[in-house]
Amino acid sequence: MTSTTSTTSRRRVAIVGPGRVGTLLAVALSRAGHRTVAVAGGSEASREHVVALVAGCRPHGDVVAAAADADLVVIATPDDAIERVVTDLARSDVLHEGHRVVHVAGSRGLAPLHRAALCGAGVAACHPAMTVPTGASDPDLLVGTPWAVTASATDRAWARDLVADLGGDPHDVDDDVRGLYHAGLTVGSNAAAAAVVVARQLLLGARIDDPAAFLGPLVARSVDNAMTTGAAALTGPVVRGDVGTVAAHLDVLAADVPDLLEAYRDLARVLLGRVRAELSPGAAAELDVLLAPRTS
Ligand SMILES: NC(=O)c1ccc[n+]([C@@H]2O[C@H](COP(=O)([O-])OP(=O)(O)OC[C@H]3O[C@@H](n4cnc5c(N)ncnc54)[C@H](OP(=O)(O)O)[C@@H]3O)[C@@H](O)[C@H]2O)c1
Repeated sequence: MTSTTSTTSRRRVAIVGPGRVGTLLAVALSRAGHRTVAVAGGSEASREHVVALVAGCRPHGDVVAAAADADLVVIATPDDAIERVVTDLARSDVLHEGHRVVHVAGSRGLAPLHRAALCGAGVAACHPAMTVPTGASDPDLLVGTPWAVTASATDRAWARDLVADLGGDPHDVDDDVRGLYHAGLTVGSNAAAAAVVVARQLLLGARIDDPAAFLGPLVARSVDNAMTTGAAALTGPVVRGDVGTVAAHLDVLAADVPDLLEAYRDLARVLLGRVRAELSPGAAAELDVLLAPRTS
């Protein structure tokens, strides 16, 4: 991606939290035409890693010193630490009008940034809906990624521009629904992956050497169908009301892989909840009994 950031909107960036996302953003913002001049928080080793990746970036043990060098502070700490960082910045008097403070947590809106706004800084919550693994430093990972942007009417334009600078696709998300938004992404990403992990273990139990060969096309198509048509795309024994097949699955799991029995029940109950209205009352009742969680 070539940068289209205008010289007038170039920012001096301080990254607070040089972990997975902080490191990637340090590189991506520089490539987008901003200047990542400071990095703070985390271990000395992780700060030095960022410094090695971004020319002109200085490490700081102290977030206040980093913010003093910058006019855009990007907070990429764990979600629970954001408010503490903002409080430290606000108490130090380092923030003023002209500063911008952004966090990248999907689960939080503007509340943890409130003290920064009181200091006169522009604030925004900008969350990339992308999984960023350890070691990722290629800014192309963010190109085309949708971002949830929560900002006041005053701050929305620059926040959207910042996302666009990174090749992202900004979407306005209201402050009061950030929790639901993030829960949706978490289920879509983590729960789907958890289901695949369970499926993979079952196929290995069935002495399938290469579970990905079976699961890859099947999972991809199932996800694709569900993405397009929602619950109408669901298939399988629970959806058909095939009580005997579900009972047989539970029997073999109990015999061969008992540690996966509850995971199967849990996942099947989620399916049952989505398709119950389509089943005969008798089949639904039998499935309810089979799939009820066992306490021991
Ligand atoms: N990874 C993803 O896929 C992803 C995607 C979108 C958004 N996000 C969001 O990005 C943010 C960071 O997530 P991540 O996955 O990059 O986490 P991470 O890899 O654990 O990085 C967090 C960084 O913050 C540092 N840190 C911890 N507490 C701090 C504090 N009080 N002050 C300053 N620095 C502190 C950590 O240092 P230590 O390592 O020394 O503890 C680490 O360098 C979170 O808000 C997350 O929700 C993550």
